[in-house]
Amino acid sequence: AHDGYDIDEMISAKKIAARIEELAREIEAAFAGTDQLVVVGLLRGSFVFIADLVRVLNLPVEVDFLEASSYGNAMESSREVRILKDLSGEIGGRDVLVVEDIVDTGFTLHHVLRLLESRRPRRLETIALLDKPSRREVDIAATWTGFEIPDEFVVGYGIDYAQADRHLPYIGKVRMTG
Ligand code: PRP
Ligand code: MN
Ligand code: MG
Repeated sequence: AHDGYDIDEMISAKKIAARIEELAREIEAAFAGTDQLVVVGLLRGSFVFIADLVRVLNLPVEVDFLEASSYGNAMESSREVRILKDLSGEIGGRDVLVVEDIVDTGFTLHHVLRLLESRRPRRLETIALLDKPSRREVDIAATWTGFEIPDEFVVGYGIDYAQADRHLPYIGKVRMTG
């Protein structure tokens, strides 16, 4: 039911859930003893991942969001990252975990981390569900990565193609048909 493309499943919902459990245990160990971890989701792509992650994370957390957009409706990064919505809360002196759905060129995460670092958090770490290292243009890596994937256009589990397909419970690969 897509105009000009089909979607092939690449990472199942079950595999994603199992990987998130593993990652949650690593995050718990890294932030053991925190009074409150500020978990920051980058809108819109991370909304599914952050929801699943915080629900299996055995740490005191608060959830905040920041919207940074570089792709708009395009398939190619604009390399200009715009902050469309800033955090609601303060992060100075606090433990912060930035949650991303995917690191591609790296421009989004790089820009967001520079901004958040300027606010002097006590500790700032990042988690990305997906990483496409072959596409990197900025030298940056998330502290934790769910899956390394090849250079395919992926959708689902929060990730869109022209704002469609974010609701799919799995990660799928876009295959052009038209
Ligand atoms: C996508 C994705 C990441 C970013 C990764 O966001 O969700 O945030 O691009 O690409 P990069 O490493 O090349 O910067 P997008 O700008 O499409 O906004 P969205 O999250 O609202 O879909
Ligand atoms: Mn995004
Ligand atoms: Mg997008």
